[in-house]
Amino acid sequence: MAIDVKYLNKFISVTEKAAIGSSFFIGKKDKIAADQGAVDKMRSELNKIEMKGLVVIGEGEMDEAPMLYIGEKVGTNRGPLFDIALDPLEGTNFVANNLPNSYSMIAVTEKDNLFSAPDTYMEKIAIGPNLPKNLLDLDNPVEKNLNLLAKAKNKKLTDLTACVLQRPRHDKIVQSLNKLGVKIKFISDGDVAGVIAVGDKNSKIDIYLGIGGGPEGVLSAAALSCIGGQIQTRLVLDNEQKKRIDQFGIKNLKKKYNIDDMVKGDVIFCATAITDGLLVPGIQKKDDEFVTSTYALHKSSNTIKKVTNIHKG
Ligand code: FBP
Repeated sequence: MAIDVKYLNKFISVTEKAAIGSSFFIGKKDKIAADQGAVDKMRSELNKIEMKGLVVIGEGEMDEAPMLYIGEKVGTNRGPLFDIALDPLEGTNFVANNLPNSYSMIAVTEKDNLFSAPDTYMEKIAIGPNLPKNLLDLDNPVEKNLNLLAKAKNKKLTDLTACVLQRPRHDKIVQSLNKLGVKIKFISDGDVAGVIAVGDKNSKIDIYLGIGGGPEGVLSAAALSCIGGQIQTRLVLDNEQKKRIDQFGIKNLKKKYNIDDMVKGDVIFCATAITDGLLVPGIQKKDDEFVTSTYALHKSSNTIKKVTNIHKG
């Protein structure tokens, strides 16, 4: 079954409104308010949509009582059953400090088609479309993966660019990339956009690798599944997390998740930039108008588009 294409505009509107809600806090040094601004708007927009929506990846677990928690029901409670992964504000630091690459994001599938990843870290390796299936593997040394990619792309190692989240935990990866002569595009936060960039020609990024958030990994997988990219992931759990992982129904803690293990069937993905993004420009405020730009994907209709809309304040 496919998700009716009429829903694409409805979910674009959700991330647009959430992005506008957060934009009031650009440069205000308040991550929490910036997130809340996005969450409030996203929730009220979601509740206007005719659907029985279930938040599978959200702002946190129910007992922490945030809005848009995992398990929260959204929509009018009439219409199709959807699973929803959302991040009302991906890149809280970016909005707080007026830095590029913050987005409001959502991914939607039909019921039971999204992996409900726990809020833990996740290893990730991702590449763009038109490459042999299962080309790379998290268990390969960085050198092997990069050589396989160079061969498949018919490029020299020195012509490849890898995107890496700048964290001390990635020092080894960075050393290996430097040894190979691979160019590195460092990002300071926001690895969903970093991963998706492997499928965007303008970004010139060939591979994403490193450890980031688990929920962000599923959002990335949803987007890549619409554009034919590949991602492999594995949870990274501390001892405390290992004890409560059962509640997510996860038995094999070392499992490598390929894209089909994280997202199945039809997918809608929308990301509206708040500050200027790798994928689309950020919100512009002109008098009483907001101009929003959204990267919008719908797998079954092969839609990959960048949508600009004007909203009255
Ligand atoms: P927030 O928007 O929640 O601040 O997350 C930003 C982010 O950079 C994610 O994109 C990434 O997956 C994660 O944080 C990395 O976590 P950490 O900052 O702990 O390395």
